[in-house]
Amino acid sequence: MSTSISGFSKLSKSKKIDWIVDSYFSNKEDAKSILKQYWNTNDKLQQLHDEFIENTITNYYLPLGVAPNFLINDTLYTIPMAIEESSVVAAASKAAKFWLDRGGFKTEVISTIKVGQVHFKYHGGFEVLNTFFKAVKPQLIAAVKPITKNMEKRGGGVIDIELKDKTKDIAGYYQLHATFDTQDAMGANFINSCLEQFAQTFKEKAQQFKDFSDSEKNIDIIMSILSNYVPECLVKAEVSCKLEDLNDYSGILPEEFASKFIQAVNIAEIEPYRAVTHNKGIMNGIDAVVLATGNDFRAVEAGVHAYASRHGRYSSLTHASVENGIFKFWIEIPLALGTVGGLTGLHPLVKLSLELLKKPSAKTLMSIVAVAGLAQNFAALSSLTTTGIQQGHMKMHLMNILNQFDANAQEKATLVEHFKTNNVTHSAVVEALKHLRTKH
Ligand code: MEV
Repeated sequence: MSTSISGFSKLSKSKKIDWIVDSYFSNKEDAKSILKQYWNTNDKLQQLHDEFIENTITNYYLPLGVAPNFLINDTLYTIPMAIEESSVVAAASKAAKFWLDRGGFKTEVISTIKVGQVHFKYHGGFEVLNTFFKAVKPQLIAAVKPITKNMEKRGGGVIDIELKDKTKDIAGYYQLHATFDTQDAMGANFINSCLEQFAQTFKEKAQQFKDFSDSEKNIDIIMSILSNYVPECLVKAEVSCKLEDLNDYSGILPEEFASKFIQAVNIAEIEPYRAVTHNKGIMNGIDAVVLATGNDFRAVEAGVHAYASRHGRYSSLTHASVENGIFKFWIEIPLALGTVGGLTGLHPLVKLSLELLKKPSAKTLMSIVAVAGLAQNFAALSSLTTTGIQQGHMKMHLMNILNQFDANAQEKATLVEHFKTNNVTHSAVVEALKHLRTKH
């Protein structure tokens, strides 16, 4: 039976590993050597990774791939993608190439406003609270000057603070609802620091506000935190072409392709079961670029899915139409991203990914990430409505199956050739490998 431990975080890395291995593994030497196999031989680089989080015992690899040929607003990009799913980079590359010959992707950053809230309880009259809020608002903004000074130099800062009455939902519940411009930073630390200062000043000033009764003076701060729901940090990406230019899908007329494609989008617009999978495919592209560029994919995921439900029913993030012979396909998506701060200046592969993307501003990165999502969805729907998804997916998965059975280089080469003209299924690969091995 495993045991609990206190003071674990204070142990050295090797003592932590000893404890884990002793407590959980039957083959202790094997477990230890797997963990150590992933250590970087460069001690300084390893230490950097060790210090990103608490209790690091090793590194967890994901492949970093690239998808070239993305023409975005007339600039060519090769997009870095960190992801484990076999077919994602291949699909993005295919969609990029397809649209490269048809004018590429166009994007528009609609807005870049981020939100944070101080949640508090107050039991008293609303009018007097509102009077207090109006009086104290300039002092709230002044109190965060030491935090906002540098951000203001870069053109960002606090945009506004509003008092929101939420007492219809919870008795005595109000918010300071603040909006921010964080320029090229994702801005989580900046926003949270401002909010905590707002809360402290708000509480202190309330104590001194003459028009409050004694009980009204006791504002109870519940919490101060940014919101990952960013419907006003919004980007749109689009592709379009003449209907007859949708001519790359052999055996299918462009009109039929467009019609099926649009119906697939329409289904995801009205059917949540399909919309979730449809949007998951979009997030395959989005998360991969968000991760490669050192951004917070959990924040992006949470915000995107909330946005997909904003009309009260979970729905597609992409839309498509044909009007006057022009096929259009677009995505509108909230993305709070940064290209400075956080991991962006620390993780060598993040720095490399950002350089590969020509050191983008946060707005440009929003565009690139939205395009990666749109491209992924285009590739998925194109396959789903024509050949089906498994053909391409299993072709890419072939190598995983071969690796699972320790195929050597010769066996891989033979079977990759064989499956160019045969259907890839797990059992077909196992059979073919068995057959090959009994022959020799
Ligand atoms: C698989 O990771 C993603 C897809 O299921 C997306 C979709 O169905 O649109 C292929």
